[in-house]
Amino acid sequence: MAEKVNRRGFLKAGGIMTAGTFISGGITHHVMAEEQQSEPAKPIAANDHIQIALIGAGGRGQSDTKVAAQVPGVKVRAAADCYDGRLTHAKELWGDGIQTTRDYGEILARKDIDAVVIGTPDHWHMRTAVDAMNAGKDVYCEKPMIHLYSDGPKMIETARRTGRIIQIGSQRVSSMIYRKAKDLLASGAIGKLNMVNAWWDRNSSMGAWNYTVPPDASPETCDWPRFLGTAPKIPWNPEHFFQWRKWKAYGSGEAGDLFVHLFSGTHFVTGVNGPTRAMATGGLRYWRDGRDVPDVLVGLFDYPEGFNLGVRVNFVDGGSENEGLIFTGSEGTMIIGGGGVSLSRVPRPKAPGYVIESWADAMQKEYLESYYKEYPIEHPSGPIPLAEEKYVAPKGYDDTYDHMKNFFHAVRTRQPVVEDAVFGFRAAGAALLSNLSYYRQKVVRWDPNEMKLLA
Ligand SMILES: NC(=O)c1ccc[n+]([C@@H]2O[C@H](COP(=O)([O-])OP(=O)(O)OC[C@H]3O[C@@H](n4cnc5c(N)ncnc54)[C@H](O)[C@@H]3O)[C@@H](O)[C@H]2O)c1
Repeated sequence: MAEKVNRRGFLKAGGIMTAGTFISGGITHHVMAEEQQSEPAKPIAANDHIQIALIGAGGRGQSDTKVAAQVPGVKVRAAADCYDGRLTHAKELWGDGIQTTRDYGEILARKDIDAVVIGTPDHWHMRTAVDAMNAGKDVYCEKPMIHLYSDGPKMIETARRTGRIIQIGSQRVSSMIYRKAKDLLASGAIGKLNMVNAWWDRNSSMGAWNYTVPPDASPETCDWPRFLGTAPKIPWNPEHFFQWRKWKAYGSGEAGDLFVHLFSGTHFVTGVNGPTRAMATGGLRYWRDGRDVPDVLVGLFDYPEGFNLGVRVNFVDGGSENEGLIFTGSEGTMIIGGGGVSLSRVPRPKAPGYVIESWADAMQKEYLESYYKEYPIEHPSGPIPLAEEKYVAPKGYDDTYDHMKNFFHAVRTRQPVVEDAVFGFRAAGAALLSNLSYYRQKVVRWDPNEMKLLA
């Protein structure tokens, strides 16, 4: 998956502006067409802007909103955050004319805001999304959709009752790479799926959520009580404020931060609702810095469609940082990673079993001759021809842009989004089973259709 594809070179060789194919080192490469990213933007009249506001203007909220502002017809009008430095930067990014406030309620009261992007820590997702929908706003809410299981039904019910659009921010669901994987699986490319293995390993302090605390962080520049919200009231703590993922009062551990991407990807590719049974283990193996969540987490899941999922996140892997998903089927293997999908199929003839050696010589000879006529390889244990195909997204491809574009398309057309609250709850609900199992030290059960925890 590490091989680089030179798109320009390929387009020149292929001479066409759509997806194409070339062979390199026995592997067939396809560069997916950029046109597949999304449908062309419609012309938008000047007075037809979608006016948006950002709630939770931290790392992800700002990067989401930068991407949103690139979608034609979208204008950023306001930002709410609990740290003043981020409000200052919001004005630097989107102009002095935008409203900035610590209180997102002031933004929701504005009639001219059509939609909000929510980039708060997990423990604020439900409250901000429900408040925004009740105020008549459409919502793009970052993953994981829920922090507590009780958040899911509230968000789904509010979306249904208010008729607002809500999209959850697992951008893989809009990715052309995952779309290709979905199409390949549906076409029978790997036969009957029996297993998915997914992982997301990191090996750095930043990867382990030790985000830098700004030098001016203080109770004056940070609205600590507002940040805490429903979390236990504790004295001002800048690490809790800026490295909130390390504590389960605000974040959802590796399961909510990273498993959830692997679940939304798996659910999208396979089209299933979720697992019925989960068990997880792990531990705090290295980053013993006061956090109360593990830095190594391994989960196993049963899917009623007849496959198992194994997921892993390791923040101390001693090597490279990478992520991927392997879909294993009866006829082959499909790997998502490194900016593309690769597919390999190994022919699996029924090789002559060792018992033939006990047959009469003439019978053995006759049998082997006919066998090698059908499967012309030198020896059953010799090299087997490997058929591998690779589909790579164009250089610079950004699935968050497609996810945003899908969201704003739904805002305009009132058509369903690719990742609604039901999909978001099924992905996060499945991922967070790992935390339940880890802390309870028990197998846990889930009804993925009704989205309910079972005893
Ligand atoms: N889709 C992705 O790939 C992706 C990537 C990173 C983060 N995320 C998600 O985005 C969310 C934010 O993560 P982050 O890394 O940007 O965190 P962050 O700490 O950088 O930003 C969170 C911001 O929310 C603000 N905030 C807290 N409570 C608030 C409230 N009541 N009202 C307004 N603002 C409030 C904080 O002051 C902070 O600036 C998380 O849920 C995370 O899981 C998603």
